[in-house]
Amino acid sequence: MSESSIPVSAGRMLGVFSLIGIGLVSLFFYLTGHKISQNEHEALLHSLQTVLAGTVYDNDPTADTIQVQDAGLGPEAVTIFRARNQDKPVAAVITAIAPDGYNGNIKLLIAVHTDGTLAGVRVVSHKETPGLGDDIEAERSNWILTFAGKSLAQPEPKLWAVKRDGGSFDQFTGATITPRAVVKAVKNALHYFAANQSVIFSDAQ
Ligand SMILES: Cc1cc2nc3c(=O)[nH]c(=O)nc-3n(C[C@H](O)[C@H](O)[C@H](O)COP(=O)(O)O)c2cc1C
Repeated sequence: MSESSIPVSAGRMLGVFSLIGIGLVSLFFYLTGHKISQNEHEALLHSLQTVLAGTVYDNDPTADTIQVQDAGLGPEAVTIFRARNQDKPVAAVITAIAPDGYNGNIKLLIAVHTDGTLAGVRVVSHKETPGLGDDIEAERSNWILTFAGKSLAQPEPKLWAVKRDGGSFDQFTGATITPRAVVKAVKNALHYFAANQSVIFSDAQ
């Protein structure tokens, strides 16, 4: 082996190890990235199953979505998941945003049956104050569960407000802003659904 060949082969070795290293890092990111999106998909499926509890459907709503933009549903475009049974529409799950929480956006899943009754409502994310505004979480109180079965006919539209504002929905002790924002967002979503049901379930978007 000549003296000059030593640095050349060392350089080659270094190159090979670098390539292996890059390959392993890429593989790691590919595998973990895939795992994360799979976990996100499963979490989404679970949330949809929860908010659609009691609704009979046989499709995968995560694969049957549309994007819509409407001021009543939030400041940006939102996704609507469509639940069908034997190809017939049974419910839409609207990912509405209540923009006027105490600490900003409250992201909601609002599931509406085709007859306009609510299958359920759940909070996906919020920044409300723990101990004051976070009773909107199903894990903390039953408040959000009381929406199931309600519609624009029951209670009538003027009662779609918290009791402090003359409506029929409870507010929380010392915290009216958060439930007021959620009630308003759910009411808006029901109005949007009533006005756009045929568009929501049509495939020509
Ligand atoms: C530090 C702090 C955090 C608060 N967080 C919330 C909240 O998350 N949600 C809410 O509705 N009100 C919250 N409030 C209370 C509101 O400022 C407001 O007083 C209340 O919503 C009005 O409800 P009330 O009319 O029942 O008192 C908070 C107040 C303070 C001082």
